[in-house]
Amino acid sequence: MPSLLCYGSYGFVGSLIAREAIDRGLDPILAGRDRDRLREQVDDLGQPGRRFDLEDPAVVAAALADVDCVLNCAGPFSNTADALVEGCLRSGTDYVDITGEIPVIEGIEDRDDAAADAGVTLLPAAAFSAVPMDCLAVHLAERLPDATDLALGVDSFRVPSIGTIRTVLEGADTGGAVRRDGRLESVPTAWRTREIDFGRGERPAVTMPMGDVSTAHYTTGVPNVEVYAVMPQPARLALRSHRYLAPLFESKSVRWALKQVAGVREGPSERARERGSAYIWGEASTDDERVVSRLRTPDPYVVTVDAAVTTARRVLARGVDDGFQTPAGAFGPDFVLELDGVDGYFDESTPNASSPVSPLLR
Ligand SMILES: NC(=O)c1ccc[n+]([C@@H]2O[C@H](COP(=O)([O-])OP(=O)(O)OC[C@H]3O[C@@H](n4cnc5c(N)ncnc54)[C@H](OP(=O)(O)O)[C@@H]3O)[C@@H](O)[C@H]2O)c1
Repeated sequence: MPSLLCYGSYGFVGSLIAREAIDRGLDPILAGRDRDRLREQVDDLGQPGRRFDLEDPAVVAAALADVDCVLNCAGPFSNTADALVEGCLRSGTDYVDITGEIPVIEGIEDRDDAAADAGVTLLPAAAFSAVPMDCLAVHLAERLPDATDLALGVDSFRVPSIGTIRTVLEGADTGGAVRRDGRLESVPTAWRTREIDFGRGERPAVTMPMGDVSTAHYTTGVPNVEVYAVMPQPARLALRSHRYLAPLFESKSVRWALKQVAGVREGPSERARERGSAYIWGEASTDDERVVSRLRTPDPYVVTVDAAVTTARRVLARGVDDGFQTPAGAFGPDFVLELDGVDGYFDESTPNASSPVSPLLR
């Protein structure tokens, strides 16, 4: 059987993914840099473990020599993706991750030629960001093939995992980003607000530098892309304060205190994940035409686990081309509909009409 290695397998999302991969019979090798946490997980799950850090590319390549696919769950990915991608290119191993970080996706896209030469697939963002919006972007582009602009949005705010908070704060250093004329353009964080009807009435959403700014463009070729998220005021304030907050999250005592205050463990509980949901909206437009479609998904963490393991399984089955791939580029717009509990597509039938709301979205 082809072998899957799950790096960062003892993190919050990594451990959910590792368990799901085991349940689906993928027999993953558990991996990471922390000997104690890895040993504890290996004992708990009864899977093989492999400890290595990402300092030396030769060590990484050697650790991956007998591995067919890496599923990288170790974020912030700005600290891990480069080294694992380099290791994969040297060892001929396919690479999948769950990043939502724009610079990471752009960096992996830069390795497209090298990956094609090495016969390796590089498929980042197999997660909540970017699978639903990437698939929705293709769906919209098929509805309006001449589209010049894509606006995508998500309404799913919930208490995130500590790892996600740290990743958002680290990434916030670079501010916001949109795609204009095919190029990434830096903009201030939350620079534009828009009232968006996600199917439950209009809500204010702000531009966010989500990885979908990269993936939606690479998948569809549409030159202008903006991504919005509904964000409560306190979260917007936290983002604007990122410079002062980011170093704090490296401190174990601050992480501990945050967990007590926020009432979360490393991330949302199983009950919260089961009850969670997300609303995805997208608009494709030209100067004189506009189409809108929507999706509803389970909780973002549930989608992430399902999307990551489903993607890894398909890559292991050699069902994906070599080189840089996006989720919907590799699997098409209906990929998201194959994930558990996803409803859609809800299309507005009349361009420029006021938003009819599907009863399913109420
Ligand atoms: N795209 C999406 O929709 C989506 C959804 C959910 C999560 N995520 C992202 O997934 C990542 C993981 O989230 P989480 O909640 O699982 O975080 P977490 O609980 O903090 O886990 C992070 C994992 O990464 C490892 N790690 C971090 N830096 C490393 C480095 N430099 N070298 C080796 N290992 C390293 C950690 O191991 P150590 O303990 O050894 O540091 C740990 O195993 C975050 O970046 C989050 O933003 C993305």
